[in-house]
Amino acid sequence: MTAAEPQCVRFVLDGETVLAPPLPPTTTLLDYLREVAGRTGTKEGCAEGDCGACTVVLGRPRAGDDGIDWRAVNSCIRLLPTIDGCELVTVESLAAPDGELHPVQQALVDGHASQCGFCTPGFVMSLFAHYLQHETTTRESLIDALAGNLCRCTGYRPIIDAGVACFGLPVPQRWSRADAQAPPRLAALRGCPWRATGIEAAIAALATDFQPLDDLRASAGYRRRAAGNLLRRFQMESTARSLRTHDVSVQAASA
Ligand code: FES
Ligand code: FES
Repeated sequence: MTAAEPQCVRFVLDGETVLAPPLPPTTTLLDYLREVAGRTGTKEGCAEGDCGACTVVLGRPRAGDDGIDWRAVNSCIRLLPTIDGCELVTVESLAAPDGELHPVQQALVDGHASQCGFCTPGFVMSLFAHYLQHETTTRESLIDALAGNLCRCTGYRPIIDAGVACFGLPVPQRWSRADAQAPPRLAALRGCPWRATGIEAAIAALATDFQPLDDLRASAGYRRRAAGNLLRRFQMESTARSLRTHDVSVQAASA
């Protein structure tokens, strides 16, 4: 264990394992990206899950095989602790080190599919998730994939055209479908499971977060213990190894 390990949120970003600094557990992924990580390519539009300007992509190991599932998510309504153990991809992650654009970006440029550009990073990331999940596409499946992204000025035809065209462009150096499923990516994710130290740090964060909460149904202390025990149980159920009882001591939830 290193001195930095008690941080409770750990994820992979651009090939590096990132330990998020201690933050309130209600911090959104969008606020983390823009205000802490300096990744301002991800935009805030509605801040309530309607416009898609804040779209990023998350990868998780797929249950049952050695693949990775890649999903577009709205970072404005995603709390940072929920990306623990994921690979996070933002719009800054896509271009190759020499500046070569990813096919979804190149196709949007070629098709003049952006005007003010505010919505564009979100469209890029939704198209990118679609590109990783499919070998070929149709306009109908693109319309589904982009259902959560709004554009007020370009119009959708050039964006859908770009979504089709990107499948015909050369395979990129970075973030091809094969690269997205490469064994080192899966190994990095599998090396990022829930850990007892992370659970204990999350429970410590809950101790302050639950402080003001008290009502007729249960005391704040009862609810804090119940939430802590749920986190410990989640860790036990989601880690491959069988934890011995002294690794994780589940406290009685009664007041
Ligand atoms: S900012 Fe509009 S969906 Fe997130
Ligand atoms: S390019 Fe302006 S909102 Fe889409």
